[in-house]
Order: sequence, then structure tokens, then C-alpha cells
Amino acid sequence: MKHHQNNEDAGTEAQKKLAKMQEIVAQAAQMEKMQNAGNGAMDKPLVAQPAPYFVDVDEGRSYQWCACGRSAKQPFCDGSHAGTGIEPVSYVAETTRRVMFCGCKATKRKPICDGSHTSL
Ligand code: FES
Ligand code: FES
Repeated sequence: MKHHQNNEDAGTEAQKKLAKMQEIVAQAAQMEKMQNAGNGAMDKPLVAQPAPYFVDVDEGRSYQWCACGRSAKQPFCDGSHAGTGIEPVSYVAETTRRVMFCGCKATKRKPICDGSHTSL
């Protein structure tokens, strides 16, 4: 009887330890999830260059301006924004002319430079 009792105690103890471990693992997973969510929300645009890009656009043509600053084909999107939570901004040229696309990505008039790069 006593022996049986001890076994039961040991079993309960092991179960408690296991439960505690599972709790810690769950907490760690939860923290990682929160951290990842935080990182996602914290993804900020990078400054591609602290000045506008002058581009000759063609009337009627649409352009995908890189809003994340990570594209290698500035000032346009090359898909490098994947995973940042940032999406490119579409621009349709109303006329054929030279456009100042924001390179610093801080403009309030996306995708056009509004002078914000001077106060970075
Ligand atoms: Fe920057 Fe797509 S690469 S928005
Ligand atoms: Fe970004 Fe001018 S280059 S506001």
C-alpha cells in the first residue's frame, strides 16, 4: 500500500513537472509569436536615398513606387518588400513628364517627393 502510494506521488510529481515544462514551452512560443508580430509592425521604410529620383514617365503608364525602400530598382518596387507588411504604391502618369519620386520614403504625398527628405 505504502509502495503504491509512493509510486502515485512520484507519478503526480512527474506529471506536475511535465505540465510545468509544457507551460514554459507554451509561454516561450507565445513570446516568440508576440515578438514576431512586433517586428512585423515595426518594419519601417528604409531610406533608399535622402533625395528624390527624377524619372521621365509616359502618359497612361502605371508605375509601382517602392514604399519600403528595399528595392534594388529604385524608385520602383522589385518585390523586396515581402515580409515587411509594406506594399508598393501605384502611380499612373497623367501626362508624359519628369516626376520626382520620393527616395527617402518619408513623403506625405506618396509617391511624390514633398520635401520631407530635408528634415530627415
Ligand atoms: Fe519596396 Fe516593393 S520593394 S515596396
Ligand atoms: Fe522623400 Fe523628398 S525624397 S520627400
